[in-house]
Amino acid sequence: MEISTPLMQDSKKVLLLGSGELGKEIVIEAQRMGIETVAVDRYDMAPAMHVAHRKYVIDMLNGEAVKSIIKRENPDAIITEIEAIDTEALIDLEDSGYKIVPNANAVKICMNRIDLRRTAAEKVRLPTTKYGFAENEEEAKKICKDVGFPCLIKPEMSSSGHGHVLVSKEEDVENGYRESISHARGKGRRVIVEEYVKIDTELTVLTYRYPTESGIKMNTFSPIEHKRPSYFYVESWQPSTVDDKTIQLAKDYALKIVEELGGVGVFGVEIIKSGDRVLFSEVSPRPHDTGMVTMASQNISEFQVHVRSAIGLPTPQVDIVSPAASHVILAQTSKWNPKFINIDKALNIPGVQIRLFGKPYSYEHRRMGVVLATGKDTNEAIERARKASSIILVG
Ligand SMILES: Nc1ncnc2c1ncn2[C@@H]1O[C@H](COP(=O)(O)OP(=O)(O)O)[C@@H](O)[C@H]1O
Ligand SMILES: [Mg+2]
Repeated sequence: MEISTPLMQDSKKVLLLGSGELGKEIVIEAQRMGIETVAVDRYDMAPAMHVAHRKYVIDMLNGEAVKSIIKRENPDAIITEIEAIDTEALIDLEDSGYKIVPNANAVKICMNRIDLRRTAAEKVRLPTTKYGFAENEEEAKKICKDVGFPCLIKPEMSSSGHGHVLVSKEEDVENGYRESISHARGKGRRVIVEEYVKIDTELTVLTYRYPTESGIKMNTFSPIEHKRPSYFYVESWQPSTVDDKTIQLAKDYALKIVEELGGVGVFGVEIIKSGDRVLFSEVSPRPHDTGMVTMASQNISEFQVHVRSAIGLPTPQVDIVSPAASHVILAQTSKWNPKFINIDKALNIPGVQIRLFGKPYSYEHRRMGVVLATGKDTNEAIERARKASSIILVG
């Protein structure tokens, strides 16, 4: 395979649908390899737009808009960086010969909690929490009773914990159901109800499919571990401290679901450990936010592997080079042109690096950056990352 020169005839080109912080790192890795990059998002000055060759601001839920940009750019690979994209447009584009990463059907399944749970639990037969589906208050009551209290109601389509409602008794189900669907993406009324389990720890098994001369191969990274104070990611570390049996099971589930989803690129398979149960939770058909730690812990990051797979290049092996941790930098308020204070103090801690995403405005709890830290072991790395992120203020 050849790579020509960006911005010239026969350049290799990737187009990102979604230009957030993960997209920014994907673009940086593509740039390093001499690949032309195009960043698309619904708002201007999104993180990946700062580093891409070109950008477009469109409504990605509008299939005509998505198609017209892609047909104009004619990229070698289209990387879906977020869930809120018109998936029918992706299917049409794939049918007419465009390469969607990982593939249009995987993107469609993974953005939908009901389709994904059916695929994982009923088709691939992975162990999951007890669950049921509902599309009105009455059904929700029945399903919550079947699943048992407490249970968690999640909209069919949402991300980052939006619309997760914990319900502890029958009288709260109606309100819980309404609250949940009010946070759904689009007008969907369907929800998944899951048994609420006590989480001891969580893993992300980054699993990737890459092309070789003898066909597609699969591999996993060493699992990343994360504990969450709420439903969204705050800190992660690698290597994980869980026992070998859990790691083996987690990797086994990850390979099975990713094999079923197919295509090429990195997938973030989320696994929950609760007592002696190891459960498949969900999967992102793209690099994972908890995987930002791989920029410090591995010789090849999740972003580099994704780019290579997308354009048809192999990554036979990835190694951990140091224990490392990541910790998010969140905004406290809404503000255009936010400032980051005490960066100098944070960088005074050995082993600490900082990534500021360049988002043009903040709002409460918006992720604005991440601290990466290495250490002699994961505990030291976690402590360093926590300390650095606690020093940095966004204002
Ligand atoms: N059934 C459950 N019981 C307890 N906690 C859960 C359950 N499902 C999800 N969670 C917690 O909520 C987080 C977000 O849930 P997830 O299904 O991954 O949604 P999202 O797509 O928003 O990331 C998980 O990482 C986990 O910490
Ligand atoms: Mg998740």
